[in-house]
Amino acid sequence: MTKTDMIEPKLLILNGPNLNMLGRRDPAIYGHETLEDIKALCEKAAAAEGFTADFRQSNHEGTLVDWIQEAADTEGIAGVIINAGAYTHTSVAIHDALEILHVPVIEVHLSNPKKRESFRHVSYVEPVAKAVFAGRGAKSYVLAIEDVARMLSF
Ligand code: DQA
Repeated sequence: MTKTDMIEPKLLILNGPNLNMLGRRDPAIYGHETLEDIKALCEKAAAAEGFTADFRQSNHEGTLVDWIQEAADTEGIAGVIINAGAYTHTSVAIHDALEILHVPVIEVHLSNPKKRESFRHVSYVEPVAKAVFAGRGAKSYVLAIEDVARMLSF
């Protein structure tokens, strides 16, 4: 399916634990933007590509799993962009839920976890992701949005 086949294609943009604390987390690692700033950036980038953005955050693994399952049953979802935060490195449940989706999954991170502590080097999201954008701060999200648009225009 291409983007033009869909009525109001929507991107589900999920954020995991502690991302609601951006602005108070170490700016040298995560930048100065708040999650609200990133939400506004994503909405703008999504609109420029003809998507609406459904931007959410939860500190709870089960809530993230519920939202991913919901996406599997919702028409018009063009892709799921996920910054699973620390659950990236621990959650088989999020991996398994993402595996059910038939739309592109893109993993994003503000920092580059592969260049940080060794416990961040494993990602349970990566095996089910079409692409990973990391280490570009808030721009990682924009690159992910543009990438979904590119994928759907083929
Ligand atoms: C993060 C990287 C994770 O390792 C960390 O636990 C986060 C944020 C990032 O966006 O850089 O909470 O996903």
